[in-house]
Amino acid sequence: MSDTVKKRIVLGITGGIAAYKAAELARLMMKRGMDVQVVMTDSATRFVAPLTFQALTGKPVFTGLWDDRIDNGMAHVEFTRGAAAVVVAPASADFLAKLAQGRADDLLSTLCLARDCPLMVAPAMNRQMWDNPATKRNVAQLKRDGVAVFGPASGEQACGEEGFGRMVEPEELLADVEGYFQPKLLAGRKVLITAGPTFEAIDAVRGITNRSSGKMGYAVARAALDAGAEVTLISGPTCLAPPAAAKLVKAVSAQDMLTAVNDLVGETDIFIGVAAVADYYVLNPSEQKIKKDAHILTLELAPNPDILANVVNLPNPPFCVGFAAESESLFEFAEIKRHRKKLPLLAGNLVEAIDSDESELTLFDDEGAHPLPRGPKIQHARSLIAHIAKLYGRRPAAGE
Ligand code: CTP
Repeated sequence: MSDTVKKRIVLGITGGIAAYKAAELARLMMKRGMDVQVVMTDSATRFVAPLTFQALTGKPVFTGLWDDRIDNGMAHVEFTRGAAAVVVAPASADFLAKLAQGRADDLLSTLCLARDCPLMVAPAMNRQMWDNPATKRNVAQLKRDGVAVFGPASGEQACGEEGFGRMVEPEELLADVEGYFQPKLLAGRKVLITAGPTFEAIDAVRGITNRSSGKMGYAVARAALDAGAEVTLISGPTCLAPPAAAKLVKAVSAQDMLTAVNDLVGETDIFIGVAAVADYYVLNPSEQKIKKDAHILTLELAPNPDILANVVNLPNPPFCVGFAAESESLFEFAEIKRHRKKLPLLAGNLVEAIDSDESELTLFDDEGAHPLPRGPKIQHARSLIAHIAKLYGRRPAAGE
């Protein structure tokens, strides 16, 4: 989302235990510079007090159709005028049913019906309610009506059961809302991304790895999804939750990652190598834990395959993009690497930003270096995807 435009969001909250997560969502939206107006159903107020949301958004919360705080008495029309979206989170099974039927018997359902902006819902309910054919029918109807449905996620539920029905976590939901507004520059494209470090075993408990959080690769996956692409993310070991809409393939070693890439690359339009692949692996790793003794331990290392180079050198390669994290002379080393790897585009940064959510990134292509202003990784990922879309659109057709 452009930071210069303050988006007005009507945040609707319905009755479910996940209402407590909506407080965090409201906080994150405010932090991202959105102007948030909260509207709650009566049942939602049984879970969280309106005052919580008033304190977080700095605005009174509305719950009823007959509220005389709005001068013209038409809160259901007033709130969505000029709003960028109505986001209902959590959306209970009952509320989804109401929306699907176009009912309007409280403020939130009435303003959903009267709105002229996009409607997004984040369902949250017990897994059996979610699996019920009635709910499935209602959700299918809402999708046909153009309503964006985010989630639900799978996992442990407040009722003690496991399965689909949990509300998507607030950070992911915010990313979904922001993603909704992104231009669909890669609609219909298949994008394959490597991310995170690789881990090369020394023995049963030790290994060699690279310092990489995976945050940049996951942000690129998110940005590609938001641009309308079909995304497969091949990830080394990280602590991150992948974007729900990406196909995730887990890899440990560089060899695993190469195998996964080889399996999937045939279908790919764009390949983005963000992974910090270990350059060497240990010859003859020990199956058991190596016991310490007083002697010097020598490890024999052999070079790993270069995954990106393998893809670039395929007979019919996808559009390939590389990453380079350098500790010095970024502009010089990145350009050398781009030419050596025969890449139309390489994104380079200095290693200081590895664990951070923010980075400094420069894009290198045939026209030169394009430094991006310092900012969140997701913003850089979006700029990268826009740049890829531009170059991809200009590439010569096969055989030229
Ligand atoms: N890469 C890869 N496989 C490898 C090494 C690197 O796919 N075995 C990819 C990375 O994902 C990245 C790009 O190549 O997109 C550059 O990675 P980097 O480690 O900076 O490059 P190296 O060729 O390994 O050069 P260096 O000597 O700087 O380590």
